[in-house]
Amino acid sequence: MNYRIAPSILSADFARLGDEVKAVIEAGCDWIHFDVMDNHYVPNLTFGPMVCQALKPHAKTAAGVPVPIDVHLMIQPVDALAAAFAEAGADLISFHPDASGHVHRSIQAITSKGCKAGLVFNPAEPLDVLDWVIDDIDLVLIMSVNPGFGGQSFIDSALRKIEAVRQRIGASGKDIRLEVDGGIKVDNIRRVADAGADTFVAGSAIFGKPDYKGVVDAMRRALAG
Ligand code: DX5
Ligand code: ZN
Repeated sequence: MNYRIAPSILSADFARLGDEVKAVIEAGCDWIHFDVMDNHYVPNLTFGPMVCQALKPHAKTAAGVPVPIDVHLMIQPVDALAAAFAEAGADLISFHPDASGHVHRSIQAITSKGCKAGLVFNPAEPLDVLDWVIDDIDLVLIMSVNPGFGGQSFIDSALRKIEAVRQRIGASGKDIRLEVDGGIKVDNIRRVADAGADTFVAGSAIFGKPDYKGVVDAMRRALAG
């Protein structure tokens, strides 16, 4: 399995965001997870396309290989800002279907700009909509906490939902990444991978420790073990 680790810069030092992005890339992470909150869909407010654009030049390895920016939209409505993020350099853009009046149109707003599109499911949200758009998306993001804040505890029912999504992806025959977001730590990442996830967002687990590489390495060891 080709696992990906995606540090969430929600838990980074906002006064040094460019350096924080470089530091987690040096630590060996695969994607940069960018949490967009609007104080409407979720009770918190973070950053917009201008910050994404400012970070884009920093999202590459020392050898110059681009590192994907994985934008997680927790905003309502979706389409106009999704397009703005595509122009600001996002590589993948995910949104919550319950925040969009027309899910298929929101997917098109993302893919028509050349970005990969993802659907995000909250802990208590059913997967029904997935059956109707699975051929149109590149990623499913399962929330294992309620969106809005870093540092919350993993909600166990997410494991059953990840298993259900893994079955649907298998049946679709499509190459769709299965990402999980919220409460991921070194000591539970293996369990989440066993349920079927292949991409792991981690905010406080990585940025909350002084040695980012130590955490990323420990996560990779847990995934390999
Ligand atoms: C929560 C965000 C997460 C958050 C995860 O709404 O979507 O990406 O940063 O933080 P941790 O890893 O601390 O649970
Ligand atoms: Zn997120």
